[in-house]
Amino acid sequence: MPRPTTRHLCTQCGHAEAKWHGQCPGCGAWNTLEPQRGAAPAAGPHRPAARAGSPRRLRDVEEVRLRRLSTGLAEVDRVLGGGLVPGSLVLLGGSPGIGKSTLTTMALAQLAAAGRRTLYVSAEESPAQVRLRAARLGSAALDIPILAETSLATVLATIEAERPEACVIDSVQTLHAEDGTGAPGSVGQVREVAGQVMRVAKSGDTAVLLVGHVTKEGALAGPRVLEHLVDCVLQFEGERERTYRTLRALKNRFGSVDDVGVFEMRDSGLVEVLDASARFVGEATRAPGSVVLAAMEGSRPLLVEVQALVSESELVPPRRVVSGIDRNRLALVLAVLARHAGVGVGAADVFVNVVGGVRVDEPGADLAVALAVAGAARGVPLSGPGGGPLACFGEIGLTGELRSVAHPDRRGAEAAKFGLTPLLDPERAATLRDAVRVAVPRPSAAPAAAA
Ligand code: TYD
Ligand code: MG
Repeated sequence: MPRPTTRHLCTQCGHAEAKWHGQCPGCGAWNTLEPQRGAAPAAGPHRPAARAGSPRRLRDVEEVRLRRLSTGLAEVDRVLGGGLVPGSLVLLGGSPGIGKSTLTTMALAQLAAAGRRTLYVSAEESPAQVRLRAARLGSAALDIPILAETSLATVLATIEAERPEACVIDSVQTLHAEDGTGAPGSVGQVREVAGQVMRVAKSGDTAVLLVGHVTKEGALAGPRVLEHLVDCVLQFEGERERTYRTLRALKNRFGSVDDVGVFEMRDSGLVEVLDASARFVGEATRAPGSVVLAAMEGSRPLLVEVQALVSESELVPPRRVVSGIDRNRLALVLAVLARHAGVGVGAADVFVNVVGGVRVDEPGADLAVALAVAGAARGVPLSGPGGGPLACFGEIGLTGELRSVAHPDRRGAEAAKFGLTPLLDPERAATLRDAVRVAVPRPSAAPAAAA
């Protein structure tokens, strides 16, 4: 007989300890370990006798054809890999106010209009508040049945009774599982809620969209611990004050994680931006400090404008302000610019911004950041072939070399669509010094200044 033991689980991070501690060794939180009774895992010769299973070759396993429910939003369907899969659990994460409720309401509205049974569970807002939002999104949204409820048991019973084909639960952190430990939103609760919702979703063939808030620090506070459990994790990003939003899959059991959807927040809801590059290139300025980056958003090429401002500073140390790129990456680019390309901005404030609230988290952005800063520092407008904006991409190495990045052909093809080729890339310049020499001549060396 295994001896019953008590484990102590942290309600914040899920860390398990044999003994109680005042401070969780996993996450450092205080007073979060709670005892959980259970049998010690059976070990060695005392293992109960079990019948052996019979493995089959994969070839002999029946194929299943995945049915898909179209959400009516092409960008969402694409990111999901073709639509919602019945019985699947999709986690939609994003910071508060980014538009998760708007996006899920729009998807349900389209599904309802297509004759699907839907259900919107709001554990955060009153029916009147949800109605107010839906009214902005068009009359189809007003046909969605809503349940405003925070009790998990009631929500599950409703799903079992109504058997919706698609259901939104907004949000996983505000539902309360009666038999779970901790306060709503704690790790124990969030796990319990997701586990029980999943059971009901699978048995009723309901596709469930679970909304989860991500804290400012980027930890999907509760939801991160759900990633292994759900079929698909979508991340909705952007800056609240800006209009552009991106939707990307971090995990997808039914499709790739390469696709990205781009949306614009308008007065009447989210609008899909099908040709985002055209938008960004059309808005690009030709002033010193502006350059077009041929970026990759997953498997999709996207042209975005990167802007930099370099200005004299009285502060020590001077300011380094970024939006849309990583701050440490800017520090690296500035160091290489100074050390290997002769552009020092040591005592100046440097601001770098990816226009439109887009975030580019890829090494290919380095060269664009460097050229924008160099152009701003020297006051030279960068112009590409035919006097249009200059487009570029490439990673910068610590020794000042330009390194190739993924999908140069797709980036090139996207730039060609807008007449921005040839691109300045690691093929055309081996080092950052070369790239700066070509794109950002010193003002004194420029013919105009010589006259
Ligand atoms: P919301 O979907 O409530 O965000 P979340 O559920 O992620 O917290 O909406 C966020 C913001 O979007 C809100 O501040 C108002 C704005 N908004 C629009 O600009 N247009 C619209 O049509 C709607 C519905 C919202
Ligand atoms: Mg919301």
